[in-house]
Amino acid sequence: MTLTVPCLFGLESLVADEMRRLQLQNVRAENGRVHCEGTLADIARLNINLRCGARVLMELGSFPAPDFEALFQGVAALPWEEFIPKDGEFPVKGYSLNSTLHSVPACQAIVKKASAKRLGAVYGCETLPETGSRYQIQFSIIKDVATLYLDTSGEGLYKRGYRAQNMGAPLRETLAAALVTLSRYRGRDPFCDPFCGSGTIPIEAALIAKNRAPGLDRSFSAQKWKNMPSRLWLEAGDEAMDKEFHGAYDIWGGDIDPAAVELARHNAELAGVEDYIRFEVADAGKFHRDSEYGQLVTNPPYGERLMEKREAEELYRSFGAAMRTMPPKWRILVLSSHTEFERCFGRQADKKRKLYNGMIKCDAFLYGR
Ligand SMILES: C[S@@+](CC[C@H](N)C(=O)[O-])C[C@H]1O[C@@H](n2cnc3c(N)ncnc32)[C@H](O)[C@@H]1O
Repeated sequence: MTLTVPCLFGLESLVADEMRRLQLQNVRAENGRVHCEGTLADIARLNINLRCGARVLMELGSFPAPDFEALFQGVAALPWEEFIPKDGEFPVKGYSLNSTLHSVPACQAIVKKASAKRLGAVYGCETLPETGSRYQIQFSIIKDVATLYLDTSGEGLYKRGYRAQNMGAPLRETLAAALVTLSRYRGRDPFCDPFCGSGTIPIEAALIAKNRAPGLDRSFSAQKWKNMPSRLWLEAGDEAMDKEFHGAYDIWGGDIDPAAVELARHNAELAGVEDYIRFEVADAGKFHRDSEYGQLVTNPPYGERLMEKREAEELYRSFGAAMRTMPPKWRILVLSSHTEFERCFGRQADKKRKLYNGMIKCDAFLYGR
């Protein structure tokens, strides 16, 4: 079957790499999503292992839907009963892009009616109870072609389960994992985040260093599905745990705000990586390390959400000055949406990559080869 993993814009190639490493077949990336061919077992493996993907969708079918009748007939022709049992709850959500059918609530109602009609006919009842497990239906209509999915993840994969509370502007866990991956951190060199906030980047770095699957401590919708044997989840969990490393790592997170540092420590405990990270109250403007190699990945305040723009620029200046004291072989990656970041920081990036933090357009500025 075709499995589709939506992701934040800019992360497609990283997600595709993750899928290839999990030996999924026919991996192909497009804007904001990556497809592959897989089995029910792969649904469990993807949900448990993916660091940068947003969720795992199972594709049921795709067809032209230039009008409501075509949408209705196309949805009613799909074999919903192969997956959704008589008591299954099947809410519908979706979106439409560049299509004649552009009213999402109207399309939602049609998809619901058509799938309910099919299930009602198969199960011989006019009203379905919807009292059982959740089978979230998702649809997309792009250029008049409808594609229907079942969402196997439930809560987005960025919800690893370790972030009990949020600080002001936390980074999505999937994006933090992507930044750590882009820095090519493998657990060998020192790793630092001097604006760590609630600790997301150092925690994701620790999970990557240990090769610990990010989904081991949470549950997924499809775990409750009738057609998905529970042994598939146990096997995927065992396979992931067998790949874990047990080394010693030098990971550090600093923040000027003592409350952030306390929260970061708490989150690291929840993630089970508190023994691998040191958190400290520290001013990023005074950051320095002597070791020859290292990776620094960070997400300083942007200026629009946490402080005024001018204050952020001042901060980038002092942080830039601190970075000029660093040994030259450190790889430094800074995520910022501030258009003047490089000018304030005082150095043009060696590489830039466009990313989205939720709806905020950002750049990852990479210094060092
Ligand atoms: C955008 S947030 C980082 C969010 C973090 N990545 C997370 O996931 O929670 C920026 C952080 O920089 C901290 N900060 C501001 N000025 C600082 C300074 N001079 N030195 C260190 N940290 C500072 C703020 O307290 C805030 O927690």
